[in-house]
Amino acid sequence: TSTHGHGPFIAAIDQGTTSSRCIVFDRDGRIVSVDQKEHEQIFPKPGWVEHDAKEIWANVQQVVAGAVEKAGITAADVKAIGITNQRETTLLWDKNTGEPVHNAIVWQDTRTDALCKELGRNVGQDRFRRETGLPLASYFSGPKVRWLLDNVEGLRERAERGDILFGTMDSWVIWNLTGGVDGGVHVTDVTNASRTMLMNLRSLEWDERILASMEIPAAVLPEIRSSAEVYGTAKGGALAGVPVASALGDQQAALFGQTCFEQGEAKSTYGTGTFMLMNTGDEPVQSYNGLLTTVGYRIGDQKPVYALEGSIAVTGSLVQWMRDQMGLIKSAAEIETLASSVEDNGGAYFVPAFSGLFAPYWRSDARGVIAGLTRYVTKAHIARAVLEATAWQTREITDAMTKDSGVDLAALKVDGGMTSNNLLMQTLSDFLDAPVVRPMVAETTCLGAAYAAGLAVGFWPDTDALRANWRRAAEWTPRMDADTRDREYKNWLKAVERTMGWIE
Ligand code: G3P
Repeated sequence: TSTHGHGPFIAAIDQGTTSSRCIVFDRDGRIVSVDQKEHEQIFPKPGWVEHDAKEIWANVQQVVAGAVEKAGITAADVKAIGITNQRETTLLWDKNTGEPVHNAIVWQDTRTDALCKELGRNVGQDRFRRETGLPLASYFSGPKVRWLLDNVEGLRERAERGDILFGTMDSWVIWNLTGGVDGGVHVTDVTNASRTMLMNLRSLEWDERILASMEIPAAVLPEIRSSAEVYGTAKGGALAGVPVASALGDQQAALFGQTCFEQGEAKSTYGTGTFMLMNTGDEPVQSYNGLLTTVGYRIGDQKPVYALEGSIAVTGSLVQWMRDQMGLIKSAAEIETLASSVEDNGGAYFVPAFSGLFAPYWRSDARGVIAGLTRYVTKAHIARAVLEATAWQTREITDAMTKDSGVDLAALKVDGGMTSNNLLMQTLSDFLDAPVVRPMVAETTCLGAAYAAGLAVGFWPDTDALRANWRRAAEWTPRMDADTRDREYKNWLKAVERTMGWIE
């Protein structure tokens, strides 16, 4: 029945921050079809960001059907479904009705800022970092769960009674996909669990003492499983009967899709935010330079692989903000044309600390600034400063990676939507003073989820088979002189200083 002679296939679902998509891959890791749908970004107050989980589930069903139809295949041609997702975004729902008790609180949301400060005073920063690998910040799920339990009327009682389920978007999608109220499985994988601030990084189990200090009842928690194993079977929908066989947070999925299977290999993904992960092997490495320690992936009952991560909250979403909130461009692609119409930033620097600052600062009290303005500056200079912001923020995390690992950056493997912006990629290479390399399949997030699912069902024999699929598509090399780079970096760091302490 397939229009592609080279079936069977693997389908990957990526439930991302701004959209949900489904991609069908063949055995060579090539894209057969894609379907995608954006969902609404809800901003109820400054610093708050929410998603409607029902809208997201409806979109997921739609893009799965869309991708299957575009590929001209049926469920029988698909060997497994892989799941990947925006991480940390937090949802609680009623297990008897399937109804969310509140909108999902998105990873970018800063409402738990005060709660995190209080936990820091009462329990101490170090405790959390030691057990979970994460600094206390509004970014992670645990404090968001606590906020919901404290703020949704009657919820704590229902949760303690065992009627409420917690999940990041992987759990929500898998539970619905495998039947929902009718027998849906309530699971998460180690990579997603490692972003909740509730999982012990060594035992890979929920940490009872941390749960107690955050006042979160264990009854709401999903079971923690590996990233590549069969969790259940899809019930209903376009892929009914197909095993659901992987789950990874989107950044970990990209690490997997870029086939960074060796210690020291790293990638940086340019999406809504930007996240650089380095494989550190089977031991968690503690960062002394503002990076996170997180789980990279775990294949079935093999040893887990850990990663160091540099997280940047706002990159692609700054371009989106320029388009939707400021109206300075009509499409995201236009940022490159506009920025290319001038030679440089005209003296302007844009630090988009919209969700506070993530790595390496972890300052929830920071807010965005545009510095260096004069009457000379045009919207084209601002567009340039917008792109430079992404490149400088990357420079700051590669500096931290170098300090933590003691290894100089030989080249940076990149992927994600923003890598189609040539000016940005050149700027990145200039600011890092290192080559920037993009693989043939820039959709590494979906690819990683497909790879993990394919390994779980024996579609691919081992990681060597996956590595053979990686091909270089483009490379940028540095052109900027050292003096200019150093001067510009200093200016950028001065602008960063000005964002801090804005929220008292
Ligand atoms: O930690 C947040 C991250 O998982 C979001 O990724 O690609 O949706 O911006 P993305």
